[in-house]
Amino acid sequence: MKPTPKRYLVTSALPYANGPVHIGHLAGVYIPADIYSRYLRLRGRDVVFVGGSDEHGVPITIKARQQGCTPQQVVDKYHAMIKKSFEEFGISFDVYSRTSSKIHHKTAAEFFKKLYDDGKFIEKTSEQYYDEEAGQFLADRYIVGGCPHCGNEKAYGDQCEKCGSTLSPTELINPHSAISGSTPVMRATSHWYLPLDEYEPWLKQWILEEHKEWKSNVYGQCKSWLDNGLQPRAVSRDLDWGVPIPVEGAKGKVLYVWFDAPIGYISNTIELFPDGWEKYWKSEDSKMVHFIGKDNIVFHCIVFPCMLKAHGGFILPDNVPANEFLNLENDKISTTRGWAVWLHEYLEEFPSKQDVLRYVLCANAPETKDNNFTWRDFQERNNSELVAILGNFVNRAMTLTQKHFGGKAPQPNALADIDNAALADMLEVKSKVEDNLESFRFREALREVMNLARTGNKYLADTEPWKAIKTDAARVQTILYVALQISASLAVVMEPFMPFSAKKLRAILNADSSALSWDALGSATLLPAGHQLGEPALLFDKIEDDVIDRQLQKLEQMKQAANAQAYSAEPQKELCSFDDFQKMDVRIVKILEAERVPKSKKLLKLLVDTGLDRRTVLSGVAEHFDPQALVGKQATMLINLAPRPIMGVESRGMILYAEDYDGKLLLVQPTGEVKNGVKVS
Ligand code: MF3
Ligand code: ZN
Repeated sequence: MKPTPKRYLVTSALPYANGPVHIGHLAGVYIPADIYSRYLRLRGRDVVFVGGSDEHGVPITIKARQQGCTPQQVVDKYHAMIKKSFEEFGISFDVYSRTSSKIHHKTAAEFFKKLYDDGKFIEKTSEQYYDEEAGQFLADRYIVGGCPHCGNEKAYGDQCEKCGSTLSPTELINPHSAISGSTPVMRATSHWYLPLDEYEPWLKQWILEEHKEWKSNVYGQCKSWLDNGLQPRAVSRDLDWGVPIPVEGAKGKVLYVWFDAPIGYISNTIELFPDGWEKYWKSEDSKMVHFIGKDNIVFHCIVFPCMLKAHGGFILPDNVPANEFLNLENDKISTTRGWAVWLHEYLEEFPSKQDVLRYVLCANAPETKDNNFTWRDFQERNNSELVAILGNFVNRAMTLTQKHFGGKAPQPNALADIDNAALADMLEVKSKVEDNLESFRFREALREVMNLARTGNKYLADTEPWKAIKTDAARVQTILYVALQISASLAVVMEPFMPFSAKKLRAILNADSSALSWDALGSATLLPAGHQLGEPALLFDKIEDDVIDRQLQKLEQMKQAANAQAYSAEPQKELCSFDDFQKMDVRIVKILEAERVPKSKKLLKLLVDTGLDRRTVLSGVAEHFDPQALVGKQATMLINLAPRPIMGVESRGMILYAEDYDGKLLLVQPTGEVKNGVKVS
């Protein structure tokens, strides 16, 4: 057993200040980090919870260019928005700062300088694209050209967004600068590299041997990086936005954003405690935990630890409980396509329902695999869990006490088995929630909270105080006393997960957080007999169908708009000659039979009458059509496509479909029935 740490340093990934934050950010990083920090504080531990905006990097300069403003204006706008969203959702940072701050520039520059002076970097010269017209080196993102894999003319120097391949700028066909449009030239430039390969043996020991307890998704990713062998990583860039490199001869160079951003955790702690920050970062009895999403694993488990190690004097993370991704309605969340639920918009539409979202996102957190947020699930969890279980239980306990005992906790009498059983369940919740939270199982911890509410509900259903009151008021005193203790325990244990509702419940119970302390959680005397309760109120309320329908419609519109944009942006294909066109034999055919191809999700096997013959064609449309709906329909087909074997069947021809903006497929048919085999030309 490790000794209990003296203090905790909880960090959460610094979001890029180039857009607002959405539910994916919250579910993956900020809700778990907040639950953990709130829990530690409730246990009386010394904790700092550090956050801030990541304000450097190329995408921010691109956004500025697009919007015709400066990068500083971009980050000012989004930093303010992000900070406000976090405040509104109760993310309880002790400090939320930003990497464009003075103190951060100073801290990051000094960090670099120390590594530089200690000879921890290697310097290498390489050839990079340079825009002579704009007079600057081009970041990979600033170079546009043809994708060597799919022909997309607008691939970026680091990635083709159409086919998803990772590229390097030199692979692009006809590269040109996104700044001036001119053709860039190669020019030599030198950069500093952190030789990660030299740290490999140490990392292997530290992670693979000494941190086997890390989550399997995190451990697995680290292992795969380490097994594949590490390369030196450049820590500088030719760019005019970022932390200037503090050495001579480095004009026009800044720290690579992934070098400066994690140092932001340090700068922000310094900003919070100019004199007391070091004990969090430099004493072995402090425990550091990084909350991040899975795309950040390599930086937090490999690169940043190497930086800290190279610097010396800093502690390393004790754990990095990275989450997987959250999808939205079965589709990847995408800022560019607008496929997201933005936090500021959520609050406009669901005012003061922060906890509902906090609850749903935690209950459904992508802890071990990617997960999915759907509005129907959101509604269901609100109505049948928060309202029907938690809210309903507390409300019944309260109203019965108001009605029969003037709102005062009654004096209990002798406890029956059923009372003792309920109290025993209540007592257990403390250690169960603690165990789960200490090992970063937030969903499981939350489930234990709800199970306590379930226990309470069942207890009332079994003891039926509303009936017993007619015959045995003394018994009802005991029942309501027990029910009130459970309500009070719920108020305590809810706090890390649903702080707004916990506060509301404390008001309903008329008890403050000193009476309802974590230490007392589960005790049968949280609300002593005679305690006067507060005003009854509902903790949660039902969300109706039409509200959810509106959210779904909004997303649907988003999708249509994004598709329309993608379509109109789709360039016309290259010109083809009349002779090429003449080669195609396109006919109207009739589909006679249609069936799914076994073991294939996509393929339908169609028997068609081409007017010349009957033949088999395979069509990748099984996800779009019920086979029976195609039978008897006329369709347009390219009949002289060279035969191709697909999954053991020879397909002779190709049926043509029109694909609508929303991805829906339609058969292409003549406006009236014609003979099979009629030519289309
Ligand atoms: N801005 C990065 C992202 O959103 C995260 C930076 S985390 C830090 O992916 F450690 F670098 F700060
Ligand atoms: Zn491509």
